[in-house]
Amino acid sequence: MGGYGYISSFFFVSLCFWFCPMVLCKLSQNQNNTMISLSRLLNGTDLTDSWNIATNPNPCHWKGVACDQTNSSVIKFLLYRHSISSSEFLTLLCQIESLQHLDLSGNSISSIPDDFITDCGKVAGLKLLNFSSNNIWGPLPTFRGFDGLESLDMSFNHFSGKVDSELAELASLKSLNLSFNSFDGPLPTKLGNSANLEQLELSNNHFVGKIPAEILSYTNLTVLDLRTNNISGSIPGNIGDLSRLETLILSSNQLGGEVPSALSNIKTLVRFAANQNEFSGSVPSGITRFLRNLDLSYNKLSGPIPAGLLSQLNLLSVDLSSNSLSGPLPADISSSIVWLRLGGNSLNGTISPKAFATGQNLMYVELEANNLTGQIPSEVGSCQNLALLNLAQNQLSGELPAELGKLKNLQVLQLQGNKLSGQIPTQVSQLKKLLTLNLSDNSLNGTIPQAMFNLVTLSKLYLQQNKLSGSIPTSIIGMESLIELQLGENQLSGSIPKMPVSLQIALNLSRNLFAGPIPSILDGLNNLEILDLSNNKFDGKIPDFLTSMPALTQLQLSNNSLSGVIPDFNSHVKVDLGGNNGLVNKTGTPNTSPRSPKGSPVVMAVLVAIAAAVFLVGLVTVLAVLISRRLYKVNDEHLQPYEDPQPPQVIQGNLLTPNGIHRSNIDFSKAMKDVAETSNVTLKTRFSTYYKTIMPSGSIYFVKKLNWSEKLFPLGSHDKFGKELEVLAKLNNSNVMTPLAYVLSTDSAYILYEFISNGSLYDALHGSLRNSLDWASRYSIAVGAAQGLSFLHGFTSGPILLLDLSSKSIMLKSLKEPLVGDIELYKVTDPSKSTGSFSAVAGSVGYIPPEYAYTMRVTMAGNVYSFGVILLELLTGKPAVTDGTELVKWVMRNSVKQEHILDFSVSKTSQAVKTQMLAILQVALACVSSSPEARPKMKSVLRMLLNAR
Ligand SMILES: *[C@@H]1O[C@H](CO)[C@@H](O)[C@H](O)[C@H]1NC(C)=O
Ligand SMILES: *[C@@H]1O[C@H](CO)[C@@H](O)[C@H](O)[C@H]1NC(C)=O
Ligand SMILES: *[C@@H]1O[C@H](CO)[C@@H](O)[C@H](O)[C@H]1NC(C)=O
Ligand SMILES: *[C@@H]1O[C@H](CO)[C@@H](O)[C@H](O)[C@H]1NC(C)=O
Ligand SMILES: *[C@@H]1O[C@H](CO)[C@@H](O)[C@H](O)[C@H]1NC(C)=O
Repeated sequence: MGGYGYISSFFFVSLCFWFCPMVLCKLSQNQNNTMISLSRLLNGTDLTDSWNIATNPNPCHWKGVACDQTNSSVIKFLLYRHSISSSEFLTLLCQIESLQHLDLSGNSISSIPDDFITDCGKVAGLKLLNFSSNNIWGPLPTFRGFDGLESLDMSFNHFSGKVDSELAELASLKSLNLSFNSFDGPLPTKLGNSANLEQLELSNNHFVGKIPAEILSYTNLTVLDLRTNNISGSIPGNIGDLSRLETLILSSNQLGGEVPSALSNIKTLVRFAANQNEFSGSVPSGITRFLRNLDLSYNKLSGPIPAGLLSQLNLLSVDLSSNSLSGPLPADISSSIVWLRLGGNSLNGTISPKAFATGQNLMYVELEANNLTGQIPSEVGSCQNLALLNLAQNQLSGELPAELGKLKNLQVLQLQGNKLSGQIPTQVSQLKKLLTLNLSDNSLNGTIPQAMFNLVTLSKLYLQQNKLSGSIPTSIIGMESLIELQLGENQLSGSIPKMPVSLQIALNLSRNLFAGPIPSILDGLNNLEILDLSNNKFDGKIPDFLTSMPALTQLQLSNNSLSGVIPDFNSHVKVDLGGNNGLVNKTGTPNTSPRSPKGSPVVMAVLVAIAAAVFLVGLVTVLAVLISRRLYKVNDEHLQPYEDPQPPQVIQGNLLTPNGIHRSNIDFSKAMKDVAETSNVTLKTRFSTYYKTIMPSGSIYFVKKLNWSEKLFPLGSHDKFGKELEVLAKLNNSNVMTPLAYVLSTDSAYILYEFISNGSLYDALHGSLRNSLDWASRYSIAVGAAQGLSFLHGFTSGPILLLDLSSKSIMLKSLKEPLVGDIELYKVTDPSKSTGSFSAVAGSVGYIPPEYAYTMRVTMAGNVYSFGVILLELLTGKPAVTDGTELVKWVMRNSVKQEHILDFSVSKTSQAVKTQMLAILQVALACVSSSPEARPKMKSVLRMLLNAR
């Protein structure tokens, strides 16, 4: 049967191929005309080239248009991300009566015209309607007709109000997505024929009230996502009736009561997330029978972890952190588990050796802040994939197992705040990927092993508050990534070796037994900000080099035996010299700071200050973590329904920046978690999407995902990608946005930058900040951007060109300080792969110089043209495409009366401002000259701008 069908349709298509020109396979006159009318309405968007009946006479070949097999009718419009805003265009679409799919996501549509609803409602074959990611305001339209509509996506808009019977007529609806809007009121229940509904996504709105009982009549639901609303009450006990449910997400609401055990009867349920609610009672035993991903973190669950909960072979991730669970850690942990987070509970008892024996898939284990006792079992060494092991703040005792050295993939080891004793095993030096090692606040003794300093990637080493003795190994100089070294409160002595110049955050040797003069070997730590040598037995005079360490902000020398004249320190350096009786001021009077480890007001004050600071830092960290978990939902939200629980699979992550603060802040796994969450998207340009990421330290960064992965260097050329970025990372110009780090995953590239809270120039100039951009700001932005560009064009080893220079690629550090962004695109894209229309390769509509159409080559002169358009935007306040035409053409057309094209709200300020604006307009006009040869070089542009001041 199937074979016969195939042959007959093949036969038909072949027939068609032969007879097409004469009979079939041609759009009807009607559809052809409609398509021509539609193309006129798209004039000015990036579809203009393709939707051109003159050069491309068959509309079935137009970009985003799909016809049926015989090319006789249009069935799909797939018009995502084309800056479409015309409502006239929308109204015409449904005159194509054969339409089945209409995808308009990612455009600039601000309302859905009534005619659209009326006409499209009559198109019986229309199955899919996607308006996601536009700018639509107001209430949801009432859908009448639409008998065949199966999928409706209105997510990521600004819809508001209640949802009542607007969707009641959609009898065929299978999939509804209203997430990321501002709907309020109760959860909607009139959703067509409820028996048909399979996917219901209502997340990130302001829905209130209980989960309605009607929801249980949607018996075919496979996906129910209600996260991040204000839903209260409890989960209906008969939720088990939804016997096809695969994904249930209730995170970030105010749901309470018990987690119903009926969930464990749903054989299809693979993902259940109800984190950040107020659930209480115990974790139902058996809930993980079928699950792959379970997240119940940040609730009020109590009682023990049920036997068998963690042993199910289907499990991939379990997060029960920050509840009040008690009792032992189950010994039976499934070999399939990748993430296990049980921190912040009251678990007690020992960690069974069995727990780790089968952990070959474990990557993240967090058991911190519990009451676990006993030893760290040596079986931990068999968890070959561990990247993070956090057992901090428990009551663990005994020695560190040498088997820890087998964890070749370990990046973070946190064992602080336990009762560990014995020596640090030399095997720790085998952890070649380690970034953070925290063994502080234990009872470790013996010496610091020489070999440990093989840890060339280690950036933070915390060994303070132990009983370590002997001297610091001279090999420490080999730790070339080290930026923080905490060795305070031990019994270290001997001579201090040369320290790595990478040290930046702090070098703390306080409260040890160091004696003799302060060693001059510490000279040269040019990045170091805090040096603490207090509470030792240093004597002699304060060496002069301490007064000239360029980055130093704090110097602690108190409670030593220093003597001599106190040298002059820079006023911004906080110096503590108390408790050194031999010191005298320049005038010869003794240094009166009293010495006394206990009870002295000064020391007490310092201790109180330190305690307060530690508390504050702790509080801020806790808050940051809580907030980031609440707002950015790191626990669970990256677990897409059918994906593995990890964020994008990292192939390679590299720090590029030499700046130690960034190096210590940047946490690749956190960045990747945040990238998996669409609510972190802050900005989109043609080629990239910017995500906001909050690092564990609380610092905020941008992660830029290059949207154009297929045109990037192919996999295998990673080294080249990295090398190009390394060059760019070294650029040092205050108006250029340089990469700090990058991550390559299996299918994308991500670049980290400093966070720019003001967003892009485009957003500021054409958005809410518009009125704040007075002439002084605009002029300063023009000069800054020109400065950045002329730096890039004049780069010593060849010019760095901008592939897509527009007001969206200029970021605003402040309203007067622009940063030229997207500088890497030209270097990391592979032009040989650019098959599509050229406008897609070389920039955004409105900024593309005319000659690119035939030269097909990005040039410096081309960049000058695009910069000219940006100048025109600043001068006129209009976007690069205005009223359907390019700003350059609009300006040319109206430039007879030049002062009329200036942004009046700015030019009216004063005659002087108007004069200056007219002068800059001449520069802009020179830049957008249609002949590339006639355009000035960026250097001259900068000079002309400065002369116009
Ligand atoms: C559509 O109309 C244009 C212009 O009227 C004509 O050139 C073209 O051949 C027509 N195409 C089809 C498929 O009918
Ligand atoms: C688009 O508009 C331009 C003028 O703005 C005009 O010259 C051109 O013919 C128009 N193209 C179409 C297909 O209507
Ligand atoms: C529910 O889903 C099943 C399988 O997908 C389908 O056969 C059935 O027709 C659906 N029920 C309704 C009422 O649509
Ligand atoms: C840990 O156990 C001790 C003694 O049993 C108890 O006092 C303390 O509250 C427990 N801490 C936690 C976090 O459960
Ligand atoms: C664990 O804590 C419970 C109380 O929560 C206590 O009854 C039990 O004895 C403790 N077990 C161990 C091994 O300390």
